[in-house]
Amino acid sequence: MKQVFLGVYNLDGQLCTENSAKGLRVYGEKLVKQNNREYRMWDPFRSKLAAAILKGLRNMPIRQDSNVLYLGASTGTTASHVADMTKGFVYCVEVSQRMMRELLPLCAVKKNMIPILGDAKHPQSYAPLVGSVDVIYQDVAQKNQAEILLRNLDYYQAKDAMLAIKARSISSVKDPKVVFKEELGKLRGKYNVLETVDLKPYDKDHMMVSVKARK
Ligand SMILES: C[S@@+](CC[C@H](N)C(=O)[O-])C[C@H]1O[C@@H](n2cnc3c(N)ncnc32)[C@H](O)[C@@H]1O
Repeated sequence: MKQVFLGVYNLDGQLCTENSAKGLRVYGEKLVKQNNREYRMWDPFRSKLAAAILKGLRNMPIRQDSNVLYLGASTGTTASHVADMTKGFVYCVEVSQRMMRELLPLCAVKKNMIPILGDAKHPQSYAPLVGSVDVIYQDVAQKNQAEILLRNLDYYQAKDAMLAIKARSISSVKDPKVVFKEELGKLRGKYNVLETVDLKPYDKDHMMVSVKARK
């Protein structure tokens, strides 16, 4: 087993995280025991963060004590792996009540996942439930993805962010390359873009972007 990033491991070419809630499976993933520890296999076809890591992501802002604001948590597939990586809080913002219903029992077991039914477009609306934020991770299928991230970065003053851009949610007619360029342009006005990773073949027309606040 090789460590790829803090809390992320490569086991025979497949990614995994150490399970912070032994015995718990979140989306039917395989559990593997080694040296008295339990690892959850991390499916890159189900998680854009895993896809980005396998595609060679170099910057991982999520560390062992990071507090993460996770926008678009859905039922917690990726957020649960993030919650394995850090002992800090993972504030899981999700707008859909249906997704939230599935997320709630997971958050009851993974104690550092905080469920928040809220709209990422309005960062101030969930501020009473969120403490200090080190990293923002955003994966929301919306038209104005860069603006949503910028609003949250401004509001929570996070130093680092990861944004999964889904080109087809922004425009179904424009060439995804043009969409990516436009979204990156919006971020570059205020933040440094450290790297971009094309998520093919795991996700078509998706890009992971690492963003850092300027000092
Ligand atoms: C692609 S899914 C996220 C998958 C998840 N990040 C994962 O990897 O496990 C996008 C999620 O964003 C949510 N979403 C869309 N617009 C949102 C908004 N404005 N605020 C919060 N969540 C939103 C959707 O309901 C959906 O669950």
